Amino acid sequence: MTEAPLEGVRACVFDAYGTLFDFAAAAKGCRDLLGDDIDRLTGLWREKQLQYTWLRAVQDRHEDFWQVTGDALDFALETLGIEKPGLRERLMTLYLTLDAFPEVPAVLKRLKQAGLQTAILSNGSPKMLDAVVKSANLVGLIDAVLSVEEVGIYKPHPKVYQLAVDRLKVPASAIAFQSSNAWDAYAASAFGMQVVWCNRYAQRRERLPGRPDREVRSLSELPGLVGAP
Ligand code: 2OP
Repeated sequence: MTEAPLEGVRACVFDAYGTLFDFAAAAKGCRDLLGDDIDRLTGLWREKQLQYTWLRAVQDRHEDFWQVTGDALDFALETLGIEKPGLRERLMTLYLTLDAFPEVPAVLKRLKQAGLQTAILSNGSPKMLDAVVKSANLVGLIDAVLSVEEVGIYKPHPKVYQLAVDRLKVPASAIAFQSSNAWDAYAASAFGMQVVWCNRYAQRRERLPGRPDREVRSLSELPGLVGAP
């Protein structure tokens, strides 16, 4: 069923990891060393990475996403008893060169052709985001790369979503926010953005404030929802 388009969208803002870029690609790049541990490592690494961002936000003890991603990887490797020389460095370096999901370049082109602003709003550090945007050849398709480092606290704190409003100079109601992370999508909705939840991982609805306006399985459906034929 084709859902009705959103009204009055002037900017499309995207979460990075899991939405534009496939963080599972990092571990896949080490299949030779990891074998069957890949899925367990990817899952535990991501879970811990996000937990650490939420816990640091509540404690107001911020460290950037590169530090937190490394800490989470150390926890996951120790938990799974994986000790392979050079593996940590390989995985961390791969995080700077993650693949974009296949539909992303064409979708961004269509949004730009329709005159919409495009931006990333991410927990990622400026260094991480600049690297991954360049590596995925998305430079020129993203008008603004916004890192939580500008406000010193992680999602889902409202200051993060306010950063997009301030930098893009459009009201929250004119922003279509896309994330594959349900908790992020709900928080952006509670903040006042229009939200297209890109539910790549078949997550369940959250019992949290806010409610995504649309739910899609891939970003291919986005242009039709925001008036970008
Ligand atoms: C991001 O901010 C939450 O990892 C996700 O890119």
